[in-house]
Amino acid sequence: MSFNWNAGYLIDTDYAYSYFRELHPLYLQFLLLTKGYQCFPIKTACELGFGQGLSINIHATTSDISWYGNDFITSQVENANKIAKLSQNNAKLYDDSFQEFLYRTDLPQFDFIGLHGVWSWISDENREIILKFIQTRLSDNGIVYISYNSLPGQNNIAPLRELFVSHEKYNDFSNDTFETRIKNSLFYTEKILHNAPNYTKENTDSLTILKKLQTIDNPKYLAHEYFHENWKSMYFSEIAKNLESLNLHFACSAHTWEHLDFINFSEQQKKLLSEIQSPIFRETVRDFLFNKCFRKDIWIKNPQKLPKQEQKNALRKLSCILTCPLEKAPQTIHSLQGEMDVKDIYAPFYAILGDNKIHTLEELENTLRKYAINLDHIINVLLCLNAQQVVSITQNPSPEIKEKTRKLNAFLLQQTYKEMNMEILISPYTGEAFPVKNLYQLFIQAYTYYKEKNSAEYIAKYTLDFLTQHNIELFHKGKKHNIVTLMEETKNFMQELPLLQQLGIIEKF
Ligand SMILES: C[S@@+](CC[C@H](N)C(=O)[O-])C[C@H]1O[C@@H](n2cnc3c(N)ncnc32)[C@H](O)[C@@H]1O
Repeated sequence: MSFNWNAGYLIDTDYAYSYFRELHPLYLQFLLLTKGYQCFPIKTACELGFGQGLSINIHATTSDISWYGNDFITSQVENANKIAKLSQNNAKLYDDSFQEFLYRTDLPQFDFIGLHGVWSWISDENREIILKFIQTRLSDNGIVYISYNSLPGQNNIAPLRELFVSHEKYNDFSNDTFETRIKNSLFYTEKILHNAPNYTKENTDSLTILKKLQTIDNPKYLAHEYFHENWKSMYFSEIAKNLESLNLHFACSAHTWEHLDFINFSEQQKKLLSEIQSPIFRETVRDFLFNKCFRKDIWIKNPQKLPKQEQKNALRKLSCILTCPLEKAPQTIHSLQGEMDVKDIYAPFYAILGDNKIHTLEELENTLRKYAINLDHIINVLLCLNAQQVVSITQNPSPEIKEKTRKLNAFLLQQTYKEMNMEILISPYTGEAFPVKNLYQLFIQAYTYYKEKNSAEYIAKYTLDFLTQHNIELFHKGKKHNIVTLMEETKNFMQELPLLQQLGIIEKF
């Protein structure tokens, strides 16, 4: 007796609260613009299979876009609707299956349709339905974001996952807990591999991969990754066949790191790629160079390329912010070629962005001209910093957006260590989630809601009272947090305060 599946999708456990910036139009439009695509305004957007709906709720809160979405797990949609309602973001969230959503008559045409972590885990029939949805609902210059398990990177996992699921499917473990069943499937697979010398000789990394999976202490994650009835990885060319049949064109990856050919590839690899005429074949070869196991693609209907000068002018108008304190800003970057020291390259940028204020690219260009740094170089460095998640593109939020974001942040703070605990807060300027650990969320509560705002002692006391009242034990260097250690932490927090204020996460008093 296997787990409960609905249309092949595991429904025994709900999905985690996760945020994905790849569904954020502002972020996608930045990447598209760097590739020279004209970005039309996005007024309507849709997320298919939104899970707990965190991304869609954040994006509906931090923009004026009219967001729609679906997921067929009712409990998830109810929670997502609670968040939509309290932040008044007007997102329309339905507990429809993909098929029901396709046949709705009350949906507009969408300028953006996104689906993350869905395509590889649903049936062929549901993939067809999604294609039909895109065909009928995507507007003329619409953008599609789609992520999926890709080949060749997933090749060595596929046989292991077959064993996990078969162990579940063809045995009756209904008396065991969900966690035990997941764990036992992995253990049993190990037993099989130890008895399969012919297989392990040909697939030398199979045991290493399995061991790595066994260290993941998160049965929910493993369940959602490997225990659905459907699990399909595709080569890029298969996706291309599906999406090109809808008249869509591949634009670029939604993964900034893959925009960094200049550091990722050797001269020989760059030459190899430059010799390939077909964009589809070139992408496939890139997937071999990266050994890609998960792709994040941006596709466009009727793409329009901007003349070089117009592209440059549009880029100059963009603005950005350093999203970490200057002291923590990276001095190296990881590339396919290994770790690179970029201290000297980043230094002139940190000299400007280090104030954690918003700067336009035009301003960067004007200031950096004296070092003979041009706009192309600026874009490359910003892409690197964005790939490292320390620079984000910013918008100029309206008072309504600021108010919606304030409400959403108040809710997130209220949930610290509670049912919907999420270690994030939202910036109305970047429109994205920003990681904020629980302890800092408590500090922010004390700082924001109580009078003695600037006193480290008061913030530490508030936090200690909260932890004591809720029976939460937090450790610091192996010892339980006390008023002294909390006061020390508060000092670190105070150093990050200006950044949180610049990001609009905390009000300036
Ligand atoms: C792996 S989760 C990804 C959730 C979300 N996109 C994210 O990345 O956080 C896939 C989601 O698709 C939903 N789903 C799967 N099959 C579906 C179907 N036939 N109709 C509607 N939703 C479906 C599931 O309920 C689940 O929440």
